[in-house]
Amino acid sequence: MAEKINLTVTNFISNENVILCPQIKQPEYAFIGRSNVGKSSLINMILAHKIAHISSTPGKTQLINHILINDKWSLVDLPGYGYAKLSKKKKAEILKMTKNYFQKRGIQLVSVFMLIDIRIPPQKIDLEWMEWLTNNNIYFIRIFTKSDGLRKSNINKAISQYNKIMSTKWEKIPETLITSSKNKEGRNNVLNKIIELNKLFQNI
Ligand code: GTP
Ligand code: MG
Repeated sequence: MAEKINLTVTNFISNENVILCPQIKQPEYAFIGRSNVGKSSLINMILAHKIAHISSTPGKTQLINHILINDKWSLVDLPGYGYAKLSKKKKAEILKMTKNYFQKRGIQLVSVFMLIDIRIPPQKIDLEWMEWLTNNNIYFIRIFTKSDGLRKSNINKAISQYNKIMSTKWEKIPETLITSSKNKEGRNNVLNKIIELNKLFQNI
């Protein structure tokens, strides 16, 4: 299904405030996660296009970036959280901008992709963000990134660790996808999810 889909980037719009973001009611999918988790890399991998800015220095993405596909739907590249080296003021500004985006965007924000680095143990800050999304009624799917760093058995172990912790707070564990931008793994799973949700959005 996803392999045949034509993905043309038809616009790229960067904003520092949710109220300035495109007003047209088309579905969009936002990527959030710790700085350096691989948000921009995953977007580029999915689109097979170097469109989002990638850097080994965390804190590269600082705006709300709408990447419009086929004039129909968007991927939204957001700044990461948890990057210690930005100034306190800049961090607070970015956090406010991002949370505002989630709370004020409205129904066109169909789903958030919550990126988690599979190579490291469960992080408090990631769990807190997932709780925040849930408390704000924002639907999200977990994407475990950088799976190239682990064997299959350890991938399952890492996800089980998260599920164990999350099952104390979540009645239903959020959906899970596994990706590696390095090995181009998981692209079809993400795209199929987007295609499925795009259809649901059309039916609203
Ligand atoms: P910010 O914009 O700072 O929030 O970071 P980001 O989440 O957009 O991360 P970005 O895509 O810029 O990638 C950060 C670093 O991780 C870069 O050095 C990437 O090459 C590396 N990286 C991204 N995806 C993968 C992956 O799947 N596997 C491996 N091994 N490295 C990856
Ligand atoms: Mg980025």
